[in-house]
Amino acid sequence: MQKKQTNLCTFAKNLDSIQMAVDIKIQPVETSKISSVDFSNLPFGQVFSDHIFQCDYINGSWQNPVIKPNEPIQLNPAAKIFHYGQSIFEGMKAYKDDKGSVFLFRPTDNCGRLNKSASRLMMPEIPEELFMQGLKKLLEIESDWIPTTEGSSLYIRPFMFATGEGFHASPADAYTFIIATAPSGAYFSGKVKVLIEEKYARAANGGVGFAKAGGNYAAQFYPTQLAIEKGYNQVIWTDDNTHQFIEEAGAMNIFVRIKDTLITSPTSDRILDGITRKSIIQIAKDNNIDVEVRKISVSEVVEAAKEGNLKEMFGAGTAAVISPIAGFGYQGTDYDLPELSDTFAAFLKKKITDIQTNKSEDPYGWRIHA
Ligand code: PLP
Ligand code: COI
Repeated sequence: MQKKQTNLCTFAKNLDSIQMAVDIKIQPVETSKISSVDFSNLPFGQVFSDHIFQCDYINGSWQNPVIKPNEPIQLNPAAKIFHYGQSIFEGMKAYKDDKGSVFLFRPTDNCGRLNKSASRLMMPEIPEELFMQGLKKLLEIESDWIPTTEGSSLYIRPFMFATGEGFHASPADAYTFIIATAPSGAYFSGKVKVLIEEKYARAANGGVGFAKAGGNYAAQFYPTQLAIEKGYNQVIWTDDNTHQFIEEAGAMNIFVRIKDTLITSPTSDRILDGITRKSIIQIAKDNNIDVEVRKISVSEVVEAAKEGNLKEMFGAGTAAVISPIAGFGYQGTDYDLPELSDTFAAFLKKKITDIQTNKSEDPYGWRIHA
C-alpha cells in the first residue's frame, strides 16, 4: 500500500517536467446553453457552463486531457467512489474585470490542497501544470460564462473520484479528474445564524477533516439539518473531544472579534486550511488589525457576548466570501450580535474582493491572469 502511494507521487513529479507533451483535445458543444441563463439573477452552483475539463488516471498515468460537453458520466456500479468514498474536491472562482480580463485567486494553492487531500485518501496527485493548463484552457473557452454583476463570479469546482472497480475495500486503480464551472451569485442570501455544536463532530484528530473530502460534507448534513429545523443556517463545529472550542463552520473558517481583536482558530488535522482565511489574516495584519490565531473557547465567546464585547463573528470561504454572522445559539440560548456600521467584515471583504476582481493593487501577487 505504502509503496503504491510513493509510486503515484513520484509519477506526479515526473509528469510535471514533461507535462505539455500532451495536448488538450477540444470537443465543443454543438449548441451553447448560455442564452437560456438569466445572468442578472444567478443562484449559487445550480447553473452549469457548457464544457468540462477531464482527464483520467489509468495504468499509473494521467491521460486523455479533454475539454468536452458537460454531460452525464457513465460508471460501472462497482466503481469505488460509490462504495468507499474516494472523492475529493476544490472550490475556486474566476472573475472578469470591466475590460474583460479574467483572473484567478491563488489557484496553485487550490492545486496544492487538492493534492494533500489526494495523498490522505490514497488517490493520485495531479501535476500542477496539468491542473493549471486544463483550468486556463477551460476558462478561455467558457469566458462568456463569467458573470460581471457585483457579487457574482464563475464558481469553479475541480474534483477527483475513484472510477476503478471492485468490492474489495482498498484504493481504486483508476480515477477521473474533472473541472466543472457554474456562474454563481452569493452563497448565503442574508446574514447567517449559527448553532454552536455540542454533540456531533465533523472531524477528529488523525482523521480527514483537513482534506476536502466529499465524506466530510456528508457527515455534516444530518447535524446541520437538526440546526436548520431549530431556525439556524449553519453549525459551528467544536472540537470532537470536549466541544469546548470553536473550530469552523460547514463551508467556512470562522473569525470572532472580541473588542478590537480578531481571533481565528489555528488549523489542524480537523480544520480546513482555508485560502480565504489565510488571506484575511494577512490583509488584517497589514491594516493594523490586531489578529490572534489561537484556540477560541465557547465560554469566552459567550462571556464576551454577555458583556457586550463580542462585536462581530463572520465566516470566510471561497463560496461564502466573508459572511457576517447575525447571532449564535448555544445550550438553548440565542445571542445576538450588535449591528455595527463599521465592521471588520465589511472592511476585509472589500479589500479581498477588490484584489480578486482587479479593482485594486495586489501587493501579494495572489491575483493571476487566467
Ligand atoms: N472550511 C470548510 C469546511 C470549507 O469547505 C471551506 C471552503 O472551501 C472553507 C473552510 C474555506 O476555504 P477556502 O477559503 O479555501 O475556500
Ligand atoms: C468553497 O467555498 O468553495 C467550498 O468548497 C465550500 C462548498 C462546500 C460550497
